[in-house]
Amino acid sequence: MRIHTTIVLALSTGIILFLLGEAPGDSDRRGPARATAAMLASPEYEAYAEECGSCHLAYPPGLLPARSWRAVMGGLDDHFGESAELDAETTRAIGDWLAGNAAEARTHRKSAKILKSVRGATPLRVSTTPYVLGKHDEIRASVFRRKSVASRANCAACHPSAERWDFDDDDVRIPRF
Ligand code: HEC
Ligand code: HEC
Repeated sequence: MRIHTTIVLALSTGIILFLLGEAPGDSDRRGPARATAAMLASPEYEAYAEECGSCHLAYPPGLLPARSWRAVMGGLDDHFGESAELDAETTRAIGDWLAGNAAEARTHRKSAKILKSVRGATPLRVSTTPYVLGKHDEIRASVFRRKSVASRANCAACHPSAERWDFDDDDVRIPRF
């Protein structure tokens, strides 16, 4: 039992170190990618995905400023027309984690661009931040209304790696219906 646990621990540490691994001289560009990988492997992410990933994508915290996450978490009783209320302790824990890993902490490749684009505003949506809107401005509005898309908030409809917080335009695929 002991030995088994030790092996599992050693293996997972190895995998995490591998994910966190950095090529020499590459640290600036890789910083956000490393932060994303570490977050996706964390127990906090699991709690977040469980509570906030049932109705839609568990959006990357790094795609909104901290004040936006505070605002979202402060209004869960009327969350885009639905109730997403949680107990006070869970709300606080998830809220602190989201705010601590928000765009200001540069936890996503796009954090800096998002932050710059929202200026002083407190958007409640990733999908309508100027940067994300701008990246999609060549897509007709009717495409977002297609049955398999239904909403701008449904990132995974077109970004197959959205669950891994990867929105690279190289593997975008727009559903036809
Ligand atoms: C009961 C279902 C439900 C749960 C649970 C839920 N949400 Fe939502 N959420 C919604 C709906 C509905 C929308 C609006 C989606 C749309 O416009 O297509 C939304 C939208 C959002 C958006 C904006 C998406 C965008 O960029 O347009 C964010 C951010 C968000 N939710 C965060 C959270 C967080 C954080 C939690 C967990 C505390 C959570 N949600 C839990 C239903 C839910
Ligand atoms: C209807 C399909 C569709 C939906 C839904 C969609 N996207 Fe996109 N997205 C695209 C396309 C197509 C591109 C590529 C645009 C280009 O290359 O000019 C793109 C590009 C992007 C980029 C820029 C990628 C890069 O490498 O620079 C980001 C970031 C992005 N999307 C994030 C999101 C997020 C976050 C959501 C959900 C809130 C979302 N997208 C929803 C189709 C979609």
